[in-house]
Amino acid sequence: MRIAEQKIDEIRNSADIVDIISGYVQLKKRGKNFIGSCPFHQEKTPSFTVSEDKQIYHCFGCGNGGKVFKFLMEFKNISFVEAIEEVADHLGIKIEYDSSPSDQQNELEVYFEINTFAARFFSDCLLKNNDGEEAREYLKRRKLKPQTQRTFGIGFAPHGWNNFLNHAKSNNIDLNKAKQLGLIDLNDKNELYDKFRARIIFPIFSPNGRVIAFGGRVFENQDNVAKYLNSPESPVYSKRRSLYGLFHSKDEIRKLDKAILVEGYMDLVSLFQAGVKNVVASSGTSLTDEQVQLLSRFTKNILVLFDADSAGQKAALRSIEILLKQDFEVKVITLPKGEDPDSFINNFGKEQFDEEIARAQNFLEYQTSQFEQQGMFEDPAQMTKAIRELVRTLALVSDELKRNLLMKTISKKFGLREKLIESELNTVLYHSKEKEITQVNRQAVRVEAQDKNLSLPLSVKQQTENPYEKELIRLLFSGEEKIVTYIFDNVAIESFNNMDFRKLAEIVHSGLDEEKISPADLIEKIDSKELRSFILKLELSDHVISKNWDELSYNGRIEKDTYEHAMETVRSFHVFQIEDEIKKNNLLIAESKDERLHIELLKRNKELQDDKKSLLGLKSKNEFDW
Ligand code: UTP
Ligand code: MN
Repeated sequence: MRIAEQKIDEIRNSADIVDIISGYVQLKKRGKNFIGSCPFHQEKTPSFTVSEDKQIYHCFGCGNGGKVFKFLMEFKNISFVEAIEEVADHLGIKIEYDSSPSDQQNELEVYFEINTFAARFFSDCLLKNNDGEEAREYLKRRKLKPQTQRTFGIGFAPHGWNNFLNHAKSNNIDLNKAKQLGLIDLNDKNELYDKFRARIIFPIFSPNGRVIAFGGRVFENQDNVAKYLNSPESPVYSKRRSLYGLFHSKDEIRKLDKAILVEGYMDLVSLFQAGVKNVVASSGTSLTDEQVQLLSRFTKNILVLFDADSAGQKAALRSIEILLKQDFEVKVITLPKGEDPDSFINNFGKEQFDEEIARAQNFLEYQTSQFEQQGMFEDPAQMTKAIRELVRTLALVSDELKRNLLMKTISKKFGLREKLIESELNTVLYHSKEKEITQVNRQAVRVEAQDKNLSLPLSVKQQTENPYEKELIRLLFSGEEKIVTYIFDNVAIESFNNMDFRKLAEIVHSGLDEEKISPADLIEKIDSKELRSFILKLELSDHVISKNWDELSYNGRIEKDTYEHAMETVRSFHVFQIEDEIKKNNLLIAESKDERLHIELLKRNKELQDDKKSLLGLKSKNEFDW
């Protein structure tokens, strides 16, 4: 059933976020906003903030945030439609459902139903079939209790080529769709057959508990047969976006604000059975960006617990990179040789497991000890390589404060001067920025192109962040049409140096075309979680502008976003750009001996000075124009 778009808009427009959230969280008015204790993580001082005029919420502690529907979905663990229904009910609005059938959602329903049908079949085979005895024995040997088997819907695909096929046929299952789901397939003779045969079946659930795929394990390891057979990609399953076990563990992960990442199905199930319930499995070796993003909805703290074999360690290192890039706090646990989490907990028990966890190393310590084991610190050449590698990982940490602390750790560890590591780090950071930012200091690059022999000093090449960019972005998300139009009329989107800001400006620009520029509407269009949370924070903070801003020219607080303030910001933005270019040109002049270049640069500086003057002139004109 669908709710008409129009109706959704009506409900959205009449709902008041403060009113709804107050039903679940005790809110107090504080300045322009309301604050309370965050229901999504445990905290002592309230950092959960709700804005009435912007109709958004954000927790400064855990990063959860969004509009009213998002709150309900996350808080009550319900779907979007259910959230709308709840708000409508609260407002006394009667919902009309679109009767148009067979939309996308209905189509997907059929796939979910087939998977559920198959999961039930496999489970029945495990519990009831005669030849299920073999499977039951196997699971007993692996110490999986019947209760655990039920919790995870574990099943058994019998021997033979058409057990499931026949069952599906007699229940009028759409065989074409079953084939798409990878349950059956066509052989050379164009006959359908069962894909999962003689395997233990692990259904894979979506975070909401729908069956989206299966993993099937052979009983005994045989040559030429993959140990695990996994469902292919399908309309309801994307491997890159799924984490095995998340449906079962998400509440505990949120509660403990910490997750343990393991590799395998059995690892997850065994840990869960032993009472370690905040686990997810990457089911395979390397973690994807999408999986990390999914997990970040529940926590940003992770313990990576991979097998002690070399494949496991490589996978751990790769996963760490991906996790660091998304601002996770990463710790690593190395298990004794030959153990994986499943065997460990079964051989040594929960208590010993907890001890291992307590010994978890932070990712740098882990990487260092890996290199140490490989003997890299004994040979000076190898040692340089190791340090480079460590610094490369360090560069992935985007929080500057954290990065600096970690840098100190490395320098202490190797008895190296901090400056040395710092310069190594700067090189790495510079190169990674260079890749991302194509427009790095366009002027300097243009000059460089004119004179290939000229080697630019790093200070010139490096990107200076224009401190007014952030304030412009804040104003663009203010929902004030006059201000937004003014900014776009006077600042080209391409002149934002920060690529994230550019992306955000583009979102506002497209919103302007659709006449939807309220903060709530715009935030919905941002698909990166980090950026969304950045904007939420920016819009909900009291408007004390960044430190930079204070240092530059601004002194005081802004009560309301005025048109004048927007004009002032735009002008400051341009003036900063001009001054920055002049500064860089002067550096170039000092560095280079090329007379022609000197003349070019001086000419350019004169133009820039004139531009600046007329910009500042504009100010006096406006001021006295009444
Ligand atoms: P492992 O080989 O470590 O298996 O693969 P495991 O999970 O410890 O299973 P047991 O204990 O031998 O029963 C780790 C994970 O890699 C994926 C599976 O998700 C598995 O759980 N894998 C492994 C596959 O997808 N296909 C394979 O052929 C092997
Ligand atoms: Mn195992």
